[in-house]
Amino acid sequence: MTAARPAPRIEELRRFSRRPALGPAPPGAVSLAMGEPDLPTPTPVIEAAVAALRAGDTHYADQKGLPELRTALAGRLPAYPGRAWSADDVVVTHGATGALAAIVLAMVGPGDRVVIPEPAYSLYADLVVLAGGTVDFVPLGRDLHWDLDALAAALPGATMMIFSNPSNPTGIVHREEELEALGALLDGSGVLLVSDEAYHRLVYPGHVARSVLTIESLRERAVCVGTFSKTYAMTGWRVGYLTGPREVVDAAAHLHRTFNGSVNTAVQRAAVAALELPDRAVEAMVETYRQRRELVITHLAGVPGLHLIPPEGAFYGFLRYDAPRPSEEVVRELAERKVLVRAGAEYGPSGEGHLRISFATSVDDLRTGLARIVGHLGVDRHRRR
Ligand SMILES: Cc1ncc(COP(=O)(O)O)c(C=O)c1O
Repeated sequence: MTAARPAPRIEELRRFSRRPALGPAPPGAVSLAMGEPDLPTPTPVIEAAVAALRAGDTHYADQKGLPELRTALAGRLPAYPGRAWSADDVVVTHGATGALAAIVLAMVGPGDRVVIPEPAYSLYADLVVLAGGTVDFVPLGRDLHWDLDALAAALPGATMMIFSNPSNPTGIVHREEELEALGALLDGSGVLLVSDEAYHRLVYPGHVARSVLTIESLRERAVCVGTFSKTYAMTGWRVGYLTGPREVVDAAAHLHRTFNGSVNTAVQRAAVAALELPDRAVEAMVETYRQRRELVITHLAGVPGLHLIPPEGAFYGFLRYDAPRPSEEVVRELAERKVLVRAGAEYGPSGEGHLRISFATSVDDLRTGLARIVGHLGVDRHRRR
């Protein structure tokens, strides 16, 4: 027996996890698999990091995050009577990933049950497994919004519920009424609500993404996660944040500094610059995604065997297909036809029969990729007749 044997929780994680290890697309293949903007990080952000490095900002930062950055983030949180946010309410983290890990590992213990409406971003369940908790997957309704009756049955006695809004992988935006209905369900319970708002600025016309912090019946029990990754095309910079009830923030800060130490100082200076960008810089990026979303909807409209609920936010289409094969198999078939997508099963049991496509990619790749998907799954449909 070798001493280099991972702890049982790693074996458990490997057994459970459906998250694929992603590499670059092979030659000739187009990737609609990655959940990251193809757009460049805005120049003022890059310049702020360079200036910080040249100015000698190369040492540890405050472990909760640079006070300037935390103050700037706190100033953007929705205030309400009795709640004025300050830097102490915010922890800067190693991306939203670091924030989610810190919250789950700090607040979930062995045997605790965590409700995850699914299909859901696959990190959540993996983190719960890592914490020794029990994942309670609750399927979404057919419209990919919450099934409130199913949630009402699952939530009593749960420790936590985690969701993203706008949602990865479904592209759904949970409406104000849905959030209010959830508030009514949770009234009087001890469930901690984790709202992952990584895509809060990426919303399409006709839809409004309300932060959980603006919902009176939810905000006292809600931990809110944000990131610079998607809004500012900063996935490689690794900077995110969390906020919520003080006990949760303090516990998550302790966990995060134990695991990660402080976030890179120059990167945090760049994050301050990102917050200072004019709104039109973000709006221009959202407009780019909006046009690509139109392209996806138009391309797939009326294609037999493929069904898409138009994305309301984020940059994903969650495509249902009729071919009678598991999504991981269909993903392999499509990879052979040189288009990479993600299997719906990665995101939970009811993701089966779906593919997630990302439109955070060039229009050319998008057209090519969609044509390959339609070509393959359309043919499939004819074969079945
Ligand atoms: C819903 C959601 N939350 C969190 C993350 C992780 O973001 P970050 O790059 O900030 O770690 C992602 C990335 O795809 C995501 O889709």
